[in-house]
Amino acid sequence: MFLPARTEDGVVVREVVARLQRARAVLVLTGSGVSAESGLPTFRGAGGLWRHHRVEELASPEGFERDPRLVWTWYNQRIAAHAKALPNAAHSALARLEERISDFTLATQNVDSLHLRAGSADPVELHGNLRHARCSGCGVRRELDAFGLPLDEIEHHCGGRMRPGVVWFGEPLPQEAWERARRAAQRAEVILVVGTSAVVYPAAALATQYARSAYVVEINPEATPISERVDSRLRGAASQELDAIARAVA
Ligand code: OAD
Repeated sequence: MFLPARTEDGVVVREVVARLQRARAVLVLTGSGVSAESGLPTFRGAGGLWRHHRVEELASPEGFERDPRLVWTWYNQRIAAHAKALPNAAHSALARLEERISDFTLATQNVDSLHLRAGSADPVELHGNLRHARCSGCGVRRELDAFGLPLDEIEHHCGGRMRPGVVWFGEPLPQEAWERARRAAQRAEVILVVGTSAVVYPAAALATQYARSAYVVEINPEATPISERVDSRLRGAASQELDAIARAVA
């Protein structure tokens, strides 16, 4: 019998809720799709950041070496956009869910700080964050406000350059963050993969390669390369699906 999509979703939501209520250890992996409803663009697809910009120019050590002012101009615009954005119902549902589960890890690929601002206690920031810059020479850190880094302060007096506190393509993830997320994937009984195209590694591998016996749920209006490998899929927006789940688990 053909079930309308919404009914099918309801069945999956009930299953996910039942598993979350029993679970001791849960991992949630988020991507830019969770912030889409806060008005921040995703990276890929229509309207995505990478449609208008070349990844290698803006998000690689080589691009920064070539034109640090261009790179900072772009990141300063994103920092300003993040400061204006507000966490949405998806971020706050995850912060509420965290209170219900004893061993809860939120690992995000996002650098926008919206999980923190929604009340998540200690999100694992796999790709760093835009709250700070650091010197590529001496490693000194500098906290940034909504104006980002003034372009005439890129050159640091040690001879190095201040760079955004994010991970670029071709760079390793911060080791402590990666270890926390990897161990959480191994322990997890349920993994929610939310708002990510699951094409950037190693983050995407958390839900597939590193999970041992987790029930994996993808929350994304669109299919991704891992869709066929997960246990169930919810095709609604992150805000709607996570809010429904968090309410039912509470
Ligand atoms: P992508 O732009 O690759 O994927 C965003 C995903 O969010 C897509 O699969 C969309 O279908 C989904 N999406 C859009 N709106 C949604 C909504 N309301 N609810 C749920 N899902 C929604 O972004 P990421 O997967 O985050 O890395 O990209 C991963 C990494 O690639 C980023 O961290 C960044 C980027 O290049 C670096 O810069 C190192």
